[in-house]
Amino acid sequence: MEYKEYALGDAYELQNAGGIVLICTRANDGRFDLAPVAWCCPMDYDGASKFLCVLDTGHKTYSDIIETREFAIALPTAQQLDLIKKCGSKSGFMTDKYGEFGIESFPGRKISIKLPVEVAGWIECKMISVNPVGTSGVITGETLGAWAAPDFWKMRVHFVTGNTYFSPGEKL
Ligand SMILES: Cc1cc2nc3c(=O)[nH]c(=O)nc-3n(C[C@H](O)[C@H](O)[C@H](O)COP(=O)(O)O)c2cc1C
Repeated sequence: MEYKEYALGDAYELQNAGGIVLICTRANDGRFDLAPVAWCCPMDYDGASKFLCVLDTGHKTYSDIIETREFAIALPTAQQLDLIKKCGSKSGFMTDKYGEFGIESFPGRKISIKLPVEVAGWIECKMISVNPVGTSGVITGETLGAWAAPDFWKMRVHFVTGNTYFSPGEKL
């Protein structure tokens, strides 16, 4: 996949269209993890784009971000629906998902992270804040770098509920 690099202030465009993301993380012990997250949106584009993600505080990805203060927001494609479901079916506390699911990956460019090959794009972030609210943790992050394929938004996957997903149609 050919990726265009985005200016830090334009990175929000990658998630303007919304859709499922794969939050990719690393723990202090060097292990990597990733999990699908539907609740992730842009919140600012002044300087570097900022994002918020809502993660269950029991998730491995959540504790990884608290440990390393870094994460990536990867944009999976419709062809990666199976990967999305698999990564959402198990916790990184129980298994190494990259090994168990045979996920081919490439390294992050600004942070030490593993990204699944053939994603439509990704945004590397440093954590700015974490705000636990009950069992949910609201994590905010600032863009360190962002890359996406041309027309990445056409490849995105959106989640409704249960087993209902859709992919965007044509540009209007
Ligand atoms: C389509 C889909 C959307 C999801 N969205 C979220 C979400 O927005 N926030 C969240 O905390 N978990 C969400 N999950 C659940 C986590 O991805 C799942 O519990 C995962 O196994 C957590 O892995 P971890 O413990 O390795 O972080 C979603 C799962 C799926 C399949």
